[in-house]
Amino acid sequence: MIQDAVQNSVIGRAIRNGIISVDTVCIRDYSVNKHGRVDDYPYGGGAGMVMEAEPVYQAVQHAVKQTAGHPRVIYLTPQAEVLDQTKVESLALEEDLILLCGHYEGIDERVLQEVVTDYVSIGDYVLTGGELGALVLIDAVSRFVPGVLGNDTSADFESMQDNLLEYPHYTRPEVWHEKAVPPVLLSGDHKKVEEWRYQEAVRRTEERRPDLLLKARRIVCAWYGAEEVGVFAEALLSRVSRYGELLNYNRNALRKKRRELSDRDLLLLVTDDAAGESVPEKLLGSHSSVAVVIAGSADCQDSETTTEQMTAYWEKKGFSAAGIYHADVNADAIKITELALEIRMNAVKQPSGGFPGET
Ligand code: ADE
Repeated sequence: MIQDAVQNSVIGRAIRNGIISVDTVCIRDYSVNKHGRVDDYPYGGGAGMVMEAEPVYQAVQHAVKQTAGHPRVIYLTPQAEVLDQTKVESLALEEDLILLCGHYEGIDERVLQEVVTDYVSIGDYVLTGGELGALVLIDAVSRFVPGVLGNDTSADFESMQDNLLEYPHYTRPEVWHEKAVPPVLLSGDHKKVEEWRYQEAVRRTEERRPDLLLKARRIVCAWYGAEEVGVFAEALLSRVSRYGELLNYNRNALRKKRRELSDRDLLLLVTDDAAGESVPEKLLGSHSSVAVVIAGSADCQDSETTTEQMTAYWEKKGFSAAGIYHADVNADAIKITELALEIRMNAVKQPSGGFPGET
């Protein structure tokens, strides 16, 4: 079932081009029974069969041996958190993944405890087996592998990462069935188009998925310090949000201007000033969140300001603290993506009154 499905379309092309690979291991080949059976009656009675621990264990061990290290082993089950884009991205950072598909009523709990690192559901309904879940996961994760989408577009520029739905799309003709394309899209004004897209994304999310909106934050990324901090801030922002605003706070005009953020905003402050002495005074919050990223060089990780001092300082300015991070300004793309994921995950948690553990 898996091998048939992955031969098609985008994933099929990526496999043929050697960009990703999908191998399958048949658990039945590891049966410890002469009839090739891998299931048995449940202890305690009841309907249905349970997959035995040993064949599952041997099959997973076989798969692990084909990878470079200690891969995450993901068990597809409806008894788990439902897969979302943040989880997909965190899985996409891995070199290898092992997906374990169960059948019947489930798998003997003892082998799950021993081998599984992640439990993933693809939705709140019950399928006949984990294979469709595995295919969904393979598809969603592969889109983040460079080259899979077959052009320069990378999957990380989609609004799902902002917990917003996509804005509406239009192509030629300009008028179809007496419906005209929204004029702003023909204006050629890139900034206006971006703002329209953001507003439409918010409207659509309010209408169709109000639950997502609770987790949506508009990101304002303020940076100051050396030029390389700006380059780092831009790379980080693009991985945190599709709609983020980048502000260079080295500029005096900006520093002098009062700006108040709302409770929907997350301030991402990126600086090489570990002492936090020259923070922008006029940048204020109103139940807003702030994530502080101190972007130094790898050998200069000592913060001179304590977490408590920084929390207190930002609280006075109207912000709740959503994390303090130390990063290497020359970090590679993977490290920057990891940091962006962590910032996004911490940002949507309810304000806890303090910074979650320092990184
Ligand atoms: N196996 C059975 N149902 C499933 C679901 N909803 N998600 C993932 N794996 C499953």
